[in-house]
Amino acid sequence: MKRKILIIVFSGLFWALVLMGALYAFSFRLNGQSKVEVLYGDNYKELGYKANIFSINLNKLVKIKSNVDTSKIGTYKIIYELPFKLLVREVEVVDKTSPELNLVGDGVVELNIGSEYQELGAKAVDNVDGDITSNIVIKNNLDMNNLGEYEIVYKVSDSSSNEASVSRTIKVVDKVAPIISLKGSSKVVVKLNEEYVDEGFIATDNVDLDITSKVKVENNIDYSKAGTYYIKYSCYDSSSNYTESFRKIEVIESIDITYIKGILLVNKKYHLPADYNPGVNSEAYNALLNLQNDALSNGYSLPLLSGFRSYETQKYLFNDYASRNGFEKANTFSALPGQSEHQTGLAFDVGRISDDFGNTDAGKWLSKNAHRYGFIIRYLKGKEDITGYKYEPWHIRYVGEVASEIYNAGITLEEYLGVA
Ligand code: DAL
Ligand code: ZN
Repeated sequence: MKRKILIIVFSGLFWALVLMGALYAFSFRLNGQSKVEVLYGDNYKELGYKANIFSINLNKLVKIKSNVDTSKIGTYKIIYELPFKLLVREVEVVDKTSPELNLVGDGVVELNIGSEYQELGAKAVDNVDGDITSNIVIKNNLDMNNLGEYEIVYKVSDSSSNEASVSRTIKVVDKVAPIISLKGSSKVVVKLNEEYVDEGFIATDNVDLDITSKVKVENNIDYSKAGTYYIKYSCYDSSSNYTESFRKIEVIESIDITYIKGILLVNKKYHLPADYNPGVNSEAYNALLNLQNDALSNGYSLPLLSGFRSYETQKYLFNDYASRNGFEKANTFSALPGQSEHQTGLAFDVGRISDDFGNTDAGKWLSKNAHRYGFIIRYLKGKEDITGYKYEPWHIRYVGEVASEIYNAGITLEEYLGVA
């Protein structure tokens, strides 16, 4: 009996020892951490495990259950199962990618002072949340009324608190040039050796306000020599915007010459002295060249038939016409010496000297466009009583920038100058 008990005790001890040994020799563990992070959209790579007893590999007996879905943010469990033991690995699918944030429009924008800034916005797209443009927060300290560089900052964060930011630079600049306003007339006539005393000017700027003191005044007037001169007024504002303005100074030899509103008037009443011999006026001639060029590019040829004529030339011409047509008739189309605009150097006959020239396409183009080059058709149809001459669709007279005003009003130079 004693022996039987002993056998039971010993065999119990033996199996207990075997079991302990087996337990001691058994190992089941995970490779890597039991908690791992996987980036959203990445593949989860199984890190593996090791199961063995003594040196017997039990890996094949392990069953894995996993519901890891890396296309969804969340925490998942992988269960590694042996019949008598299980292990768990926690897999967290996380988003660490910042949203893509892009400006709409340029990164650097220049705007004029005082103008309005129209927010162009930005666009935000996130790998997880999709379009999150509406979550963008915009901050700026823009002051459109002060010159300077400003930054507009756009920030956005996704549902995993990943942030992105971009900025836009706004340069508030001044590109508006100052304005120089002349006091007095912009066309002045002075007698030889008499100096013109400037009537003054004012320069104003959108930013600097009154900058009259910055105006530079230049001229090359030779009061001892008859001619057309200009006084140039120029200035820069503090943003280097430049402007210039001119006053035309006509230095004339004789006071017998009549200028009204700065325009030399010559007709049957207002004459030129015999020694008035300025030659062709270069400003008028350049305007004529432009006119002829443009006419040509429109398909019309307007050749110059007669330009500057001296007192002597006019005398010869008129006498010739008078001898053939009689004085009265001749004076309806030809001026007496001293009464011809051709002696001013400011008048030209172009196209064709013929009554029906005004009905030709070239004549019509001239009539409609001459004013754009500073010319007027001097002797209009129906205005013979005022001009003293018959209709001359070929005779153009340079008057400068007032030509359009005269043309649009459909009046003669005499009417414009108030001497009709
Ligand atoms: N044919 C114009 C009127 C002149 O002789 O000046
Ligand atoms: Zn003429």
